[in-house]
Amino acid sequence: MQITPFLKKDANVPIYLQLYQFFREEIEKGSIITGEKLPSIRELSQSLNISRNTVDTAYQQLIAEGYVVSREKSGLFVLELDDVPMVQEVQHELKLPHVEGKTDNLIDFQYGDIELERFPIKVWKKCLLGAVDAPSHEVFSYGDKKGHYGLRTEIASYLYQARGVRCSPDQIILTAGTQTAVNLLIQLLSLQNEKVALEDPGYDGVRYVFESQKCEVVPISLDEDGINITELEQSSAQCVYVTPSHQFPIGMILPVQKRMKLLQWAGKNQTYIIEDDYDGEFRYLGQPIPSLKSLDTNEKVIYLGTFSKAFLPAARVTYIVLPEPLVEVYQSKLFYISQTVSQHIQEALYRFMKEGHFGRHIRKMRKIYQGKQAALLKAIECQLGDKVNVIGQKAGLHLLLELKGLDAKQLVEKAEEFGIRIYLTEKFWLKKPPQFDQPIMLGFGGLSVEQIESGVNQLARVMKVCEINQKIGEMKS
Ligand SMILES: Cc1ncc(COP(=O)(O)O)c(C=O)c1O
Repeated sequence: MQITPFLKKDANVPIYLQLYQFFREEIEKGSIITGEKLPSIRELSQSLNISRNTVDTAYQQLIAEGYVVSREKSGLFVLELDDVPMVQEVQHELKLPHVEGKTDNLIDFQYGDIELERFPIKVWKKCLLGAVDAPSHEVFSYGDKKGHYGLRTEIASYLYQARGVRCSPDQIILTAGTQTAVNLLIQLLSLQNEKVALEDPGYDGVRYVFESQKCEVVPISLDEDGINITELEQSSAQCVYVTPSHQFPIGMILPVQKRMKLLQWAGKNQTYIIEDDYDGEFRYLGQPIPSLKSLDTNEKVIYLGTFSKAFLPAARVTYIVLPEPLVEVYQSKLFYISQTVSQHIQEALYRFMKEGHFGRHIRKMRKIYQGKQAALLKAIECQLGDKVNVIGQKAGLHLLLELKGLDAKQLVEKAEEFGIRIYLTEKFWLKKPPQFDQPIMLGFGGLSVEQIESGVNQLARVMKVCEINQKIGEMKS
């Protein structure tokens, strides 16, 4: 294959990104056809006079998005595509001070904790103060029922740049948390007593909401690359809730072919897809994966985003992006619902975004989390070696460890004696497989690199103790 991309070495856009975009466009245009083999990393890096790493990063992004597949010892081959629209790039930078950490002495691998040491607390305080000083009447009253208009405008523009979502502020509704958002959607779509399909394993936080609202939850199992579409098609569900950019909790990324099938399912059955894009910003290899919503030409995807990972869980700000046709339905059906997010927080967040702090914050955090994840992976490799398999390391603020021959419950209990807290995962499964050995979950967002390293060090010791205990138990029986 003759590859002649025009790479601008002095441009602001990194070379790997230019290369990835070149291939992506060529594949979409059909200039590079299905089944065609891409040049090897070595060939391309030599012919373009760029590093192998650069080519590799571009290729990894194409693989992750499902444009090409890697076949062992043969190379990369172009996969078949339907129509795939583009996503815009994100532009960001940085700034920061100090916040107190947790008070207990345990190294807590709690999923959901975020980086606080380098949180831009001074800037946030300024925005909060500004919000209270705001001359606007809205900030001291109940405010707009769908949420602060300025904030919704900022979110719309952020979503377009960063996640490829095209929407107007009118399509956005702000809620205090994802569970509140799901609650609203159940009412909006009249899902009570209807079948709702959920990934299994999946996010228990929303499953409880569907269950408590009397929805009939249908668990859909996961293939290696995400939700099983055949099972979904057979489910006769009215709606599916998915986490395509980073499946929770397993961590796979739904490839573009499956995304298209999911959209086709919704179009054919006149059903809705709830896309929870809870941490789509934190992908460490290449650019963030475009959201499913960015491919939705049929207005079938309801998009959910949260500030809990990208900013602060304490803010309790989540947003729903409704497809255009549902906006009027929302207004007529749920006109009585008041805003659940504080007006002061909304105004402060509006200021934070408008002044450009949010973009900078995300770019900074992505680097920080990437460093933490790299430290965690390295420590696991060095300290835990062949005792575990790592699951879901492409993105996000957590990963899972599949244990080889150790009992997860014993390990989690013992860990506390050694000063670390790690987590069981069985609650994420609705239908457990027959031989179910649950992995353990390690969230790393709130820990420093030093804590991560000493935590894994301790985990290695706990594992040894558990191994010995297990052997003694076996000898006795
Ligand atoms: C899959 C998933 N979605 C959403 C959230 C965020 O929820 P909230 O917006 O209520 O903080 C989380 C947080 O744990 C999550 O794991």
